[in-house]
Amino acid sequence: MKLLAPSILSADFSNLSREIRYVELAGADIIHCDVMDGKFVPNITFGPLVVSAVNKITGLPLDVHLMIENPDLHLEAFVNAGADYITVHQEEVIHLNRTLNKIKELGAKAGVAINPATPVETLTEVLDLADLILVMSVNPGFGGQQFIPNSITKIRKLSDLKQKYGYKYLIEVDGGINKNTIQQASDAGCNVFVAGSSIFSADNISAAATELKNLIQQ
Ligand code: DX5
Ligand code: ZN
Repeated sequence: MKLLAPSILSADFSNLSREIRYVELAGADIIHCDVMDGKFVPNITFGPLVVSAVNKITGLPLDVHLMIENPDLHLEAFVNAGADYITVHQEEVIHLNRTLNKIKELGAKAGVAINPATPVETLTEVLDLADLILVMSVNPGFGGQQFIPNSITKIRKLSDLKQKYGYKYLIEVDGGINKNTIQQASDAGCNVFVAGSSIFSADNISAAATELKNLIQQ
């Protein structure tokens, strides 16, 4: 399964409905929402209020990427706001098993993200529990950064483990995904492709999303 997940981080928030409509028309599968608190990452974005507004704008599933401290405190609020997937960071969550179970109990799919410097091996004991593993291919916090090539090795590792042990998780890549990098991530076994600036900073948002979608469908 290959899914395109535009990240609204780089969208024009004064025209969010219009921008989301553009990517829907291009065949986007998921809307990726980047929640940042200015602590876990140096940037601040938005919280459940905006996620709830996005949920009203679109019928697509919402993939909420929590780049915040103490995400456990906010899981329920994001599920109530309409999150279909909630992804927490391995580096922040001490009781990862508990948190992933909590997300599932609340009725959402449970994702776990690893930063570029975090090895895949730190997830070994939760691979059977996770619905989604997010490989960060930039250091989180900002859109428009350059893809870190080592992420391909991590995606391949996760794909091999999935095959070997029959795990069910989707593999997602996030950061620096554009027409030059998406193919290699796809070839390595990635399922969900987050793209922010390469879609929403393009002159033609729909055309940019269509181009990425076509590349992963080949
Ligand atoms: C970065 C965010 C990404 C961001 C990606 O911390 O998690 O989702 O929107 O932006 P691009 O695609 O521009 O690298
Ligand atoms: Zn993200």
